[in-house]
Amino acid sequence: MHASDQLLEDSLLLTSASAKVLSPTDSAIQHAAAILKAGGLVALPTETVYGLGADAESETAVAAIFAAKGRPADHPLIIHLASAQLMTDYARDIPAQAWRLAGRFWPGPLTLILKRKPGVSHLVTGGQDTVGLRIPAHPVAQKLLKSFGRGIAAPSANRFGRISPTRAGHVVSELGGQVDCILDGGPCTVGLESTILDLSGSEPRVLRPGAIGALALARELGVEPGRGSSGAPRVSGSLPSHYAPSTPLRLVDSRDLIELAMPGKESLAVMALQPALTTREQVHWLSMPAEAQEYARQLFARLRELDEQGHACIYVERPPAGAEWDAVHDRLIRAATRAGSEKTGERG
Ligand code: TXA
Ligand code: MG
Repeated sequence: MHASDQLLEDSLLLTSASAKVLSPTDSAIQHAAAILKAGGLVALPTETVYGLGADAESETAVAAIFAAKGRPADHPLIIHLASAQLMTDYARDIPAQAWRLAGRFWPGPLTLILKRKPGVSHLVTGGQDTVGLRIPAHPVAQKLLKSFGRGIAAPSANRFGRISPTRAGHVVSELGGQVDCILDGGPCTVGLESTILDLSGSEPRVLRPGAIGALALARELGVEPGRGSSGAPRVSGSLPSHYAPSTPLRLVDSRDLIELAMPGKESLAVMALQPALTTREQVHWLSMPAEAQEYARQLFARLRELDEQGHACIYVERPPAGAEWDAVHDRLIRAATRAGSEKTGERG
């Protein structure tokens, strides 16, 4: 194909994908619910990141999520619910702790892993005997869930292993061709994926850190939750390489930033907490907020922008220690792990 024809085709594709972005009016939400009922895919805003939603009870719809994302079939999906009572439709032997946490943190950025009720699709649970449930806080997600009336299975609306989308436009560039509609709920206010707490085992464990920290969970649970997978459940966000930009990303200590200000040929990006140490043209210096919540809110969108600028490398100043930075550290470490340098050989 001629290069200009390719360009035209690309721009037509992007235009048709953008046409699927709907402002979340009541009629757009009804339209999206009808798409879900018909087995289609709807990208929906949540307070954490945008999700790629489908009817959790339709195997063909759920299969379409895996196909669109290029996600391996053994990676389970979170089912989003309109109310905590609906937990009993999907989970069995629900511990009192789950109800307590639901009362305290739902709607909000917390996913609970519970024992799967027989009848819940193995496709959704990645073949496991557990199921992930969450009530998102974003008003558009809530309206859609209420209008649809059942659980919506939704992973983050990005291609497998890539940075999660925190704006409708990110979904267009990740999966625009594959979704039937995208509800635009504005920028996500949390910006990082939900905290995942496994309550299916003998002790509670945090499988993925998020905005709701271990301390807040411990206050409700009465015990400090353990950390990391107990072995059985697979969390794709816990693969060594995940949330990765295409540009190599390196984490650097604050004291080493000055070296990046030295003259060099390559164009590079620096995502720092410190103000710019250089005005050199080859260095794109981005100063990030010093407060953890605000940093988290902006992180994925900023990484995406830097990734698109075509630098040889993105250097990220390692944020300070401290529990409030846990989730940010987690995502940065995964983004810095390049596919191929992983121990497991699995791709994120
Ligand atoms: O904030 C979020 O959680 C977003 C929004 C859209 O809700 N969703 C999200 O989904 O991040 P996803 O699929 O990208 O990541 C969910 C993680 C996956 O890593 C998956 O393996 C894990 O949750 N998960 C789901 N069900 C599970 C289960 N039964 N056991 C262990 N991990 C589970
Ligand atoms: Mg994801």
